[in-house]
Amino acid sequence: ANPNSLKIMISGAPASGKGTQCELITKKHDLVHIAAGDLLRAEVAAGSENGRRAKEFMEKGKLVPNEIVVMMVRDRLLQPDSQEKGWLLDGYPRSQSQATALKEFGFEPDLFILLEVPEEILVERVVGRRLDPVTGRIYHLKYSPPENEEIAARLTQRFDDTEEKVKLRLRTHHQNVEAVLSLYKDITIKVNGGVSKEEVFAQIDSALEKLVKQKKATAGPV
Ligand code: AP5
Repeated sequence: ANPNSLKIMISGAPASGKGTQCELITKKHDLVHIAAGDLLRAEVAAGSENGRRAKEFMEKGKLVPNEIVVMMVRDRLLQPDSQEKGWLLDGYPRSQSQATALKEFGFEPDLFILLEVPEEILVERVVGRRLDPVTGRIYHLKYSPPENEEIAARLTQRFDDTEEKVKLRLRTHHQNVEAVLSLYKDITIKVNGGVSKEEVFAQIDSALEKLVKQKKATAGPV
């Protein structure tokens, strides 16, 4: 593994903007974005046995069991690109046991980013979210509308993006967040996620730039 590469975790409530910030972060910093939810949705789309089981939990807004999630994330972290470029882990760990498993496999983050967003904004963000299946980009009908008609016509919605389901996802988030935060409190930065996506990114990027400088100073050039 490259000693200068960044190892970042990003966490926050459903629709707090994790995926959106990961797009902006990877545009500037060449990290491998690993989103637990995306890995799971790919399994669901592939129609595998794990995907079928995962979907039952995702539809209820519950955590998918560790025996499915943990190995999936570990395997992606072990890929040569993640090892070389560094990683940006989105939506994992969501419980103390997931964090412990990762540590046992030897993965320790440099920085834990927590996006804080007032709850009343989250539902509106979820129901307006749309995804572009061609580019993978995240849109919002009001806050990040598609650039043209062609894109608008092909946008899709996630099966768990209803008001009813986001409330279940939020409940699960509240049950687990404190346990995870307590493990990373020394390396956590809390970011105000309730402002525009550019303003959120500016807060994150100043912490990342600081970290890049620190890494260069301690590890030296590769
Ligand atoms: P996951 O896919 O991780 O969903 P989530 O945590 O609910 O988060 P989201 O993807 O909904 O939101 P986001 O924070 O990425 O927000 P986004 O940037 O899209 O997980 C789904 C399910 O998989 C879970 O419920 C669980 O069942 C399972 N799962 C996942 N990880 C697991 C794990 N580790 N263990 C067990 N089970 C697991 O933004 C949302 C919207 O807001 C977009 O439309 C965007 O355009 C807009 N927006 C973003 N930022 C702003 C801004 N600053 N201002 C205005 N609008 C904004």
